[in-house]
Amino acid sequence: MATEEQVPEPPLWEQWAEQRAQLPQGERLQKVLASTGWGSRRVCEELIAAGRVTVNGEVAELGRRVQPEVDAIEVDGAPVGVKPGLVYYVLNKPRGTVTTAKDTHGRPTVVELVPTEPRVFPVGRLDADTEGLLLLTNDGALAHRIAHPSHGVEKEYLAHVRGRVPQAALRRLRDGVELEDGMTAEAQVSQPSPGVLRITIHEGRNRQVRRMCEAIGHPVLRLVRTRIGPISDRSLRPGDWRELSTGERRALTEAVAERSRQYDRPS
Ligand code: URA
Repeated sequence: MATEEQVPEPPLWEQWAEQRAQLPQGERLQKVLASTGWGSRRVCEELIAAGRVTVNGEVAELGRRVQPEVDAIEVDGAPVGVKPGLVYYVLNKPRGTVTTAKDTHGRPTVVELVPTEPRVFPVGRLDADTEGLLLLTNDGALAHRIAHPSHGVEKEYLAHVRGRVPQAALRRLRDGVELEDGMTAEAQVSQPSPGVLRITIHEGRNRQVRRMCEAIGHPVLRLVRTRIGPISDRSLRPGDWRELSTGERRALTEAVAERSRQYDRPS
């Protein structure tokens, strides 16, 4: 007589099918988007209706349900939601700190100014002498897109330069100047007070702002980054850091997606 122990187990795939059937249907996509900071449910419904949201690579339809821990959700190609364990800091980098994980000359590094766990990396570089806003994260995909040299997000700097810059030189900065690694792209440049330039660029070449100012004969005396895409913070003191809010993360993801769209659009 067959005992209970001898009844063969159903094959694994049948067990999985059964488990799947028992899984809850998931949450409404617009609810998940809204909870990760993409706006009100109505705004999120509009995103879905406009075909800007994909689930596991397929354009999602209104009414779609998802399991946020399992399904890969993207808006305009940017992953949605903060995966567990990902952190995003903005630091006001003080002058003299280096943007590497370890300095061979023993200088203080920016990673020493933020929590050590989880381990984060600076997004792009600022020169040791440059001050101002720097993002640090363990989200490699977003970091890569923000810092991309040719289609990274806008970065704004205040550059205190030697001498008052005449209009013609400002125009050169705006139109592009010849550097040893090629012409710079168009930039937004103003001079809010004599010798102080507000420069917005979206390239990320090595020492770019310093070299641009040098090229017009007005070397930089002090350089401060005041904005990275939508992220700015005038109240953060040098050496201080804070986590990005959900809204800031969303705005940053949107800015990166927008830049990628502009970059990928056929000209
Ligand atoms: N441009 C520079 O010249 N230096 C920086 O640190 C950032 C932009």
